[in-house]
Amino acid sequence: MALLDKHGVIERNATLLLTLSLVVVCIGGIVEVAPLFYFQNTIEKVDGMRPYTPLELAGRDIYVREGCYVCHSQMIRPFRDETERYGHYSLAAESMYDHPFQWGSKRTGPDLARVGGRYSDEWHVEHLTHPQALVPESIMPRYGFLAETPLEFQNIAANLKASSMVGVPYSEEAIANAQQDVIAQATPDADTSGLLARYTNVRTEDFDGDPSKITEMDALVAYLQMLGTLVDFSTYDAKANYR
Ligand code: HEC
Repeated sequence: MALLDKHGVIERNATLLLTLSLVVVCIGGIVEVAPLFYFQNTIEKVDGMRPYTPLELAGRDIYVREGCYVCHSQMIRPFRDETERYGHYSLAAESMYDHPFQWGSKRTGPDLARVGGRYSDEWHVEHLTHPQALVPESIMPRYGFLAETPLEFQNIAANLKASSMVGVPYSEEAIANAQQDVIAQATPDADTSGLLARYTNVRTEDFDGDPSKITEMDALVAYLQMLGTLVDFSTYDAKANYR
């Protein structure tokens, strides 16, 4: 009872109550936040993750520019209904090179975190050009103009460089070869040896079905086709990350 009486003093004095509440909240805050400053990295290391190729990075910029994230999330939650529909739940490491990340919670359309490899390039081009031709009830807008718009990639090296400044591990060599790597990835029969030495698990092909030019469609489809394909979940061991 004595303790409750003492607490009564606090409850009857608004200033004291507010001050002590603040102290308690601060302790809670410090306990949650302080350790983050001492961890080297809060993201587990996962085999297979690599920075985007220059073409994929250009495609990602188009994805952001066109506001695809307004209708599509890129984060599969660890719930059964999600993993059965979309595949393995998303790992933090899978968006570690995203600036900004594309997680989102608005799903007018399906989650795209693992759409890579699910459809052919032709399907994507046709779907982006005229979604209702493939899914009659679709409310997705048409993006056919991307196939008509040449990709501007004169500044792609600067884009890689800016990414490297915020922690994406692009080498000097990757930055210096960024333009050639765009061409190599989207041009059939190009010399891809340099590109493939710099980036693992890369699809090289004419993504938009028009080998005569590199378009924004090439870049966007290259980006969509790599989404969620870098980590090999047949060998991924979640428990290995809890040490
Ligand atoms: C107004 C909302 C909206 C916007 C904006 C939008 N989409 Fe969609 N998207 C949808 C809907 C709804 C579907 C499901 C029906 C369909 O397949 O068309 C869909 C389906 C898709 C699919 C097929 C996914 C699957 O697993 O079947 C892809 C890929 C896709 N969208 C990519 C994009 C890209 C890339 C952009 C930006 C250029 C974009 N979407 C913009 C609404 C949208």
